[in-house]
Amino acid sequence: TPRGPTMSVLVPQLVVSVLVVSNCSSCCPPPDCTCEWTDWIDVSYPNSSDRNSGDYETFENILTNDPSWVCAKVENISCRAEKFPDIPIKDLGQKVECSVDTGLICNNRDQPIGGIIPMPVCLNYEISVCCTPNIPECITSTTTSTVSSPLVSTTSPISISSGPPSSTATTTMPPSSTTSSTLGTATTVPGTPAPIPSTASTSGTPA
Ligand SMILES: *[C@@H]1O[C@H](CO)[C@@H](O)[C@H](O)[C@H]1NC(C)=O
Ligand SMILES: *[C@@H]1O[C@H](CO)[C@@H](O)[C@H](O)[C@H]1NC(C)=O
Repeated sequence: TPRGPTMSVLVPQLVVSVLVVSNCSSCCPPPDCTCEWTDWIDVSYPNSSDRNSGDYETFENILTNDPSWVCAKVENISCRAEKFPDIPIKDLGQKVECSVDTGLICNNRDQPIGGIIPMPVCLNYEISVCCTPNIPECITSTTTSTVSSPLVSTTSPISISSGPPSSTATTTMPPSSTTSSTLGTATTVPGTPAPIPSTASTSGTPA
């Protein structure tokens, strides 16, 4: 404990804070933003006797069917016919839109005669979507700059506390009365940032 306290007390605050900030980008476990596939969803059924009907597994209809449904961002979509789950849609001979923007749209009136079923009507389809995890780090990718700045400001106060061990500082002080007052102020700083627990583990690593 006794050795080298003076040097560490003089330099630390600036240097340590820089280290912690740079470390954070690499050491903090990056959130896993891999999208997750939902179960097969089927909320719409084509009415084969209505030319203006079709199958509409749209995100809008899914939400209407279940208002609590959450998909932060649709990154991918898979569409299949309920009766022919293993046959790619393109091989079914039906005209179907399957997109991450709207979901699945099949209009009876767009269907040709002579597809996999004799009637020119839509099969019943179901979809599965791959949703971005609903956490800020994964969703607000475009506003990265705004996100990063608050992170830096919260981290810097913590780095100060982790820097100079308070016990060492007090030990060194006895010699000069003037310096002790300066150190006293420095020692009080560490106490304040304590409330943030998650980042605390981070500050422990570099020390
Ligand atoms: C299907 O469409 C026909 C013709 O428009 C209509 O009479 C019938 O009620 C519809 N069936 C359902 C289940 O909506
Ligand atoms: C969508 O998922 C399929 C697998 O279901 C994959 O082959 C394809 O590459 C994915 N597309 C994108 C853009 O991730």
